[in-house]
Amino acid sequence: MEVNKEKYAADLSSIKEARARISSFIHKTPLMTSESLDAISGRRLFFKCECFQKGGAFKFRGACNAIFSLDDQQAAKGVVTHSSGNHAAALALAAKLRGITSYIVIPKNAPQCKVQHVVRYGGQVIWSETTIKSREETATTVQQETGAALIHPYNDGRIISGQGTISLELLEQAPHIDTIIVPISGGGLISGVALAAKSINPAIRVLAAEPKGANDAAQSKAAGRIVTLPETNTVADGLRAFLGEFTWPIVRDLVDDVITVDDTEIIKAMRLCYEILKVAVEPSGAIGLAAVLSDSFRTNPAWKDCNQIGIILSGGNVDLEVLWNSFSK
Ligand SMILES: Cc1ncc(COP(=O)(O)O)c(C=O)c1O
Repeated sequence: MEVNKEKYAADLSSIKEARARISSFIHKTPLMTSESLDAISGRRLFFKCECFQKGGAFKFRGACNAIFSLDDQQAAKGVVTHSSGNHAAALALAAKLRGITSYIVIPKNAPQCKVQHVVRYGGQVIWSETTIKSREETATTVQQETGAALIHPYNDGRIISGQGTISLELLEQAPHIDTIIVPISGGGLISGVALAAKSINPAIRVLAAEPKGANDAAQSKAAGRIVTLPETNTVADGLRAFLGEFTWPIVRDLVDDVITVDDTEIIKAMRLCYEILKVAVEPSGAIGLAAVLSDSFRTNPAWKDCNQIGIILSGGNVDLEVLWNSFSK
């Protein structure tokens, strides 16, 4: 699938602009390989370690691009967002770098470690109920009261462009890859990755990895429209959002397929990342490896053509409390 002429919320030039804007603030993340994981999967795997990004996830790229795109007058009023974690921490950190206030609406069920990151980076935490509706309404109230600029976690061209800078780096580090596997939730990450990658190499395959318990993207692709779910149930706490009006057209047109995996497969992949790669990933971050190792991918007709696979390890913010406690017993 090639990038067609339809106007999307971002494009290769906005992604290149984002790279120029954020490159002095972000880490260029390493690309790791493992002969052991190649042997287990039967494929050459290239792990783009966004868990080493500042703030512990790729989200800092988009947040930084959005915040440093604001003019001084807008920036002075601060920024507001709603997020279950990684975007929240990323926005708080980017706001701190610009010297402005960030108001972060967080649902009550967010993982503790992610809330701590927001506080550490100086974000002002405002609690909401767990539903998307409550999160959005609370953020709108804060926006109206403060005049802060709303920076949506994924449904925003500046965010999509920032996330797309991953592909620019990845295709410089491994120009020969034929496939990229990307975790999907609201679709900001995969939209940027797919736009940049397919603009550079139209033949490249971009696959989404999604938990079975939050498989709205797979259902949306099948239905040809945005499908939302009454509830989601997955260990991958970063992958519970639904596609938005800006991410959906890109996902619809440029994502070749969605591979769904269950939580057992995610946890197994996460363990392999720790044991073999020695990399701390969170469940949402390990899902790309889970997809590569899943039966649903291996029985997919595309599998035979996927030989050099880029996997985005999208984040590493995992609550280690339980694991740590087990050591001190
Ligand atoms: C670690 C991690 N991976 C992937 C995603 C999915 O990103 P997006 O919502 O842009 O699809 C998220 C979103 O929060 C995340 O935190």
